[in-house]
Amino acid sequence: MGEPVILALDQGTTSTRAIAFDRQGRALADAGRPLRQSYPHDGWVEHDAEEIWNACAAVLRETAEKTGRLDDIAAIGVTNQRETVVIWDKATGRPIHPAIVWQDRRTADRCEALAKGGAEPRVTEITGLLLDPYFSGTKIAWLLDNVPGARARAERGELLAGTMDCWVIWKLTGGRVHATDATNASRTLLFDIEAQAWSEELLTLLNVPRSLLPTVLDCAGDYGETEPEIIGRAIPIRGVAGDQQAALMGQGCIRPGEMKATYGTGCFMLLNAGEGRPVSRSRLLTTVAARVGGRTTYALEGSIFVAGAAIQWLNERLGLAGGPQGVEALARTARPDHGVVVVPAFTGLGAPWWDPDARGAIFGLTRDSGEAEIAAATFDACALQTRDLVEAMRADAPAAFHDGAELRIDGGMAKSAWFSQRLAELTGLPVLRASYHETTALGAALFAGLGAGLFASLEEAASARPEATLLQPSDDTHRRESAYARWLDAVPRVRA
Ligand code: G3P
Repeated sequence: MGEPVILALDQGTTSTRAIAFDRQGRALADAGRPLRQSYPHDGWVEHDAEEIWNACAAVLRETAEKTGRLDDIAAIGVTNQRETVVIWDKATGRPIHPAIVWQDRRTADRCEALAKGGAEPRVTEITGLLLDPYFSGTKIAWLLDNVPGARARAERGELLAGTMDCWVIWKLTGGRVHATDATNASRTLLFDIEAQAWSEELLTLLNVPRSLLPTVLDCAGDYGETEPEIIGRAIPIRGVAGDQQAALMGQGCIRPGEMKATYGTGCFMLLNAGEGRPVSRSRLLTTVAARVGGRTTYALEGSIFVAGAAIQWLNERLGLAGGPQGVEALARTARPDHGVVVVPAFTGLGAPWWDPDARGAIFGLTRDSGEAEIAAATFDACALQTRDLVEAMRADAPAAFHDGAELRIDGGMAKSAWFSQRLAELTGLPVLRASYHETTALGAALFAGLGAGLFASLEEAASARPEATLLQPSDDTHRRESAYARWLDAVPRVRA
């Protein structure tokens, strides 16, 4: 065997990718497949779980082949879009329904009814989450209640449920392992994040049979071995984490007070809170940052549902040409102080507003507003939504926002130096822009490397984080605060 290779599988919302890394965190080879999105009704979003599985197997195989070093692959790390959930038949391996995606709002009424009944404070106390259709629990209950025969089959123990990590691991191991990790479990609305166990109280509240749910393991742990024919050899699966927690690891944010924001379809900002479970008074989530060696660390999380998806919207729906780069080039030509505000609440608003019924709007149009101003305001909306999260985090964890605090960023939009500078400008925070953007896959690889014994400690694994460029905000606080005031004026106007 030569130098070890770690294979990361990143099953994301819009694509599935595999990347092979060396121990220093350098990417050696990769492969990807786009993922079809299905919108059967207003607010519904589904994925074909079989398509996801086939893509996972294909990209793993292709990436392993590209390295030409199949025998050197020491471990696989899995990371995934979180909350998206599928239920399948244990005997046939067939999903009983398409996977319900995290963005799907079909259980908004159920969440509202539970909240009206007074359940939310207790749900938050146990899970760190809020009663929002974003999380998996009400989606599982919906499947059991709406797929003919599903509840009876679940009660007979014939079905299994899981987030995408769990589904893919079950398939990779030929149905031998039904497991998830603590970060993914912490997004289900069914997991007690302090006891680190499924909550009987919430299983009863949401009417979900315990037998459906997987075993919950550490992020660096033993998830079995792949069936030999899938990649060409049995390979141990040694790391699992939800994509945002994986990115936190890939950005090396393992100490309390370190924070990152990842700009993919949405934007997810996580602040490492250390081993003590934080309580948010600002409607942020408390979530498991990592569980390694049985030791749990927590994070405060702000989730924005639409970030990169708004840039895609400019391109695909408004017909602005040239892909993301073309849209950015256009945005850069906007009149300064144009006053246009775009609120991209296409699927409701996430943190800190949590309003599934809000919908998008454009404000402040004048006779000379054009495509460039709308494009610029859409980029700014991503930065201003981040400012909302920064303010909520500052209120919950003031110590983290000392002089010299920095926000690490990655993901598609962070590839734009211009957007990254706008982000520094509009949040007022120094921004550290990663030189390598696949920090999610890197984090999964680092957890797997740790699980396979390639690193002696979490600290050693985290030192493989990529270099970053520092972007400072200007001193123009007046302009920054006026832009934020316009945003705060616009947001309540899109709410129901
Ligand atoms: O919570 C949803 C999140 O995990 C999805 O991330 O990168 O697939 O948009 P992404």
